[in-house]
Amino acid sequence: MSGFQSPRGLRDLLEPLASAHGWAVDRAWAAADAAGYARIELPFAEESALFERAVGGTSDIVSKELFRLEPRGDDAVALALRPEATAGMVRAYLQHGMRSQPQPVRLATVAHLFRYDRPQKGRYRQFTQFDVEAIGDSGPGSDLEVIALGAAYLRDLGLTDVEVHLNSVGCATCRPAFVALLQAHFASIAPQLSEVDRSRLAANPLRLLDSKEPVAVAHAATAPRITDHLCAACASHHAAITKGLATIGVTVVAAPSIVRGLDYYTRTAWEYLLPGEQGQQGALGGGGRYDGLVELLGGTATPAIGFAIGIDRVVLALEERGLLPEHAKGPAIVVAGIEPESIALRIATALELRAAGVSARADISSRKIGKQLEGAVRDGARAVIIVEPDGRLTLRDLTEASQGEPAERGAVIAAARRLVQGKG
Ligand code: HAM
Repeated sequence: MSGFQSPRGLRDLLEPLASAHGWAVDRAWAAADAAGYARIELPFAEESALFERAVGGTSDIVSKELFRLEPRGDDAVALALRPEATAGMVRAYLQHGMRSQPQPVRLATVAHLFRYDRPQKGRYRQFTQFDVEAIGDSGPGSDLEVIALGAAYLRDLGLTDVEVHLNSVGCATCRPAFVALLQAHFASIAPQLSEVDRSRLAANPLRLLDSKEPVAVAHAATAPRITDHLCAACASHHAAITKGLATIGVTVVAAPSIVRGLDYYTRTAWEYLLPGEQGQQGALGGGGRYDGLVELLGGTATPAIGFAIGIDRVVLALEERGLLPEHAKGPAIVVAGIEPESIALRIATALELRAAGVSARADISSRKIGKQLEGAVRDGARAVIIVEPDGRLTLRDLTEASQGEPAERGAVIAAARRLVQGKG
């Protein structure tokens, strides 16, 4: 071993997790395609100022967890590795003039993200999100479409009992009065709060509702509920979504403590959770409306909504439930050879098999044929093709322990294909 280790919180994914991860990513793209969301690939880094403005300078994600890159060269712009995708999506929406397209603009991506967080189970410094955004529509239809898309994606992966924990965080009209109420509620116990929670009390009292500190958690139980203090417009929007989700058949749990850790949210906020899991840490994903963000980043006022589902947490949940998909464990066919001179022909045969849709590898050793057969059995191969000294091929069925006569290449490759594909 070299002595080098992967950096803390940055993992290698080995089988079967690597295949499960790739499978969940493929399913994410497919779910987006099927729902008419255009694919977009964003850069890994953006100007730090974009995240500071969009996600909020006092949020944990920006104040503590941003991987900042040293400015270098002439264009000394401060960059940061992306900690989330929504800010980049809105930047792209504005940069590419998507306002002139029919609204809402539906966008989806799968993104590797970076947060300098304390690593633990389900929380890594590099992770992957399936991110979906619908930009340009204010009606509850957008909320329903987006929430249902994420829930269906999780259900289709096998997480059939997924719940949507739903809240509204209000808008500029109703939130300030609620924040003042909340501040008053917690002010009475300010001296008992942790230092972090005391600073939340001053800067962003809503975040006290998802504090993990026991004092704050206990006091949050009796706190006023934002859904009782929404303005008429937010209240009717929220009611329409709750009713619509029931019609669609999505399991909804009212969750007045979900406020989300990013500053851009307005109105609808939700998390995808499995029964028994706690918010934030245990969430498979989360999202919300962000009706002020496009304007905050320099565009005209444009409503929007989206979610991100953490692929790493999805894979963990599948693993815990014994639902990981089958992964390819080895080639179906091993091409062996009697003579060392046949190695190139073995490789050519394996390539021909793969081109015909059969997984295959060549044994590239000069070992005795018996050893090559043992290797094929260890690989779990279905059959071996032996390259004879005269260039003809012999098919050996490992399951039946039967062997045919040497024959012409084309005939043996066709027979191998029928065998592996279950037609012979
Ligand atoms: P978020 O709640 O910060 O929202 O992240 C969404 C999901 O990403 C989480 O529920 C979790 O599954 C996963 N996740 C977050 N941090 C980590 C981590 N350190 N390790 C592993 N997984 C993690 C957002 O990022 C918003 N941009 C979502 C959104 C899109 N809102 C509107 N549009």
